[in-house]
Amino acid sequence: MSLILIKNGHVVDPENNINKKLDILIEKGKIKKLEENIEPFAGCEVIDATDCIVSPSFCDIHVHFRDPGQTYKEDIRTGSMAAVAGGYTTVVCMPNTIPALDEPSLIRYVIEKGEEVGLCRVLPAGAITKGRKGKELTEMWLLKDAGAVYFTDDGAPVMDSFIMRKAMEYAGSIGTFVADHCEDLNLSNNGVAHEGEIAAALGIPPLPPEAEDTMVARDCILALRTGMPVHICHISSKVAVETVAWAKALGANVTAEVTPHHLSLTDDEWLDFHCKAKVSPPLREHEDVEAVRWGLASGIIDFVATDHAPHAHHEKMLEHQHCPPGMLGLQFALPTVLELVKKDYFDINRAIQVLATEPMKKIGLKPPAIKEGETAELVIFNPTESWEVNEETILSKSKNTPLLGRKLRGKVKFTFYNGKIVYSDTSGVCCG
Ligand code: DOR
Ligand code: ZN
Repeated sequence: MSLILIKNGHVVDPENNINKKLDILIEKGKIKKLEENIEPFAGCEVIDATDCIVSPSFCDIHVHFRDPGQTYKEDIRTGSMAAVAGGYTTVVCMPNTIPALDEPSLIRYVIEKGEEVGLCRVLPAGAITKGRKGKELTEMWLLKDAGAVYFTDDGAPVMDSFIMRKAMEYAGSIGTFVADHCEDLNLSNNGVAHEGEIAAALGIPPLPPEAEDTMVARDCILALRTGMPVHICHISSKVAVETVAWAKALGANVTAEVTPHHLSLTDDEWLDFHCKAKVSPPLREHEDVEAVRWGLASGIIDFVATDHAPHAHHEKMLEHQHCPPGMLGLQFALPTVLELVKKDYFDINRAIQVLATEPMKKIGLKPPAIKEGETAELVIFNPTESWEVNEETILSKSKNTPLLGRKLRGKVKFTFYNGKIVYSDTSGVCCG
């Protein structure tokens, strides 16, 4: 259908200062008209967006699509399906694949595979160190030239501070940045669950929050010293949030992301003793959850990134020490953020900033705009409609999440990418 009219939706586009009811006419994939009342006419398909929000579609700069090497967990096609079902049309794949994304040909492989699938924009992050071993810097310039949008050894920290400083300087000097999985491995000491009452009561090896906090502090200090940017992956503890606030106040070029699970879940998820609750950094306590929520509301934390980390069922059934950490995220970010709007932590405008526009700007891309003349790249969602998380509604290849069986509020109805509908809640994933 070359003419689509989205009627009665509430349009929220923070970059273009739009927050009101508007109809949108899309012709051949482009936004032709954006007006208060556009009458339907013969030959145009009408999407009834009554009670729905229409916004730029979302951007997640931290996903694990496991390709190459572990496509039994996820691949670029199934990852893209989960993305568009969650309202995302831009994702950045982590380089902790097998092999690690530390060579230009591997960077190009991810981009080409993403384009072949064609559901959304799939971009790779390059590794900071060769093989993610923390010893020798990769050829960042060549990786950037091949299409890497930033650099990280995620899944592992850069433990050596001298290497981290060099990486920060090098990435910054070529107009990009490094992102760190902040964890001092000596302090974490093979811990599994957040060090607190739950880990103690259940006898699960404890992982103290200072493993994260000290690394966040180190990175902030290096950013202050070098004047170069650093991005903190999946911030999760109260002290880490306070440390980023301190560094920002001193003028450090530091940004931080938070995951849906750290915004909504505590270490209570361990109570049934199951490793679906195992994630790195670990689920923490109520006061940490409050801290990341307020951090996101105030701008100390810049945006949401899901750390979508699929793992196969048999892996998540292993005992605590051997089970890989991680949980899905792409389909749960919107409901999590909407819950915080409902609880008055922030408004819908901030919700769209943290899901869509801020992450896009962080990787140097222009956020999709709901403006006449622009290609339609948007999401239509009903903020109050609920749905159940189950094996059918999860579009990822893996189903690892503590949310299985729970009901979430906030349902994606349509996702548009490159002027086309790539997902609808009635037809599922379209084309591609
Ligand atoms: O829980 C996690 N899972 N945290 C990470 O940093 C890596 C990720 C993975 O790759 O599974
Ligand atoms: Zn990750």
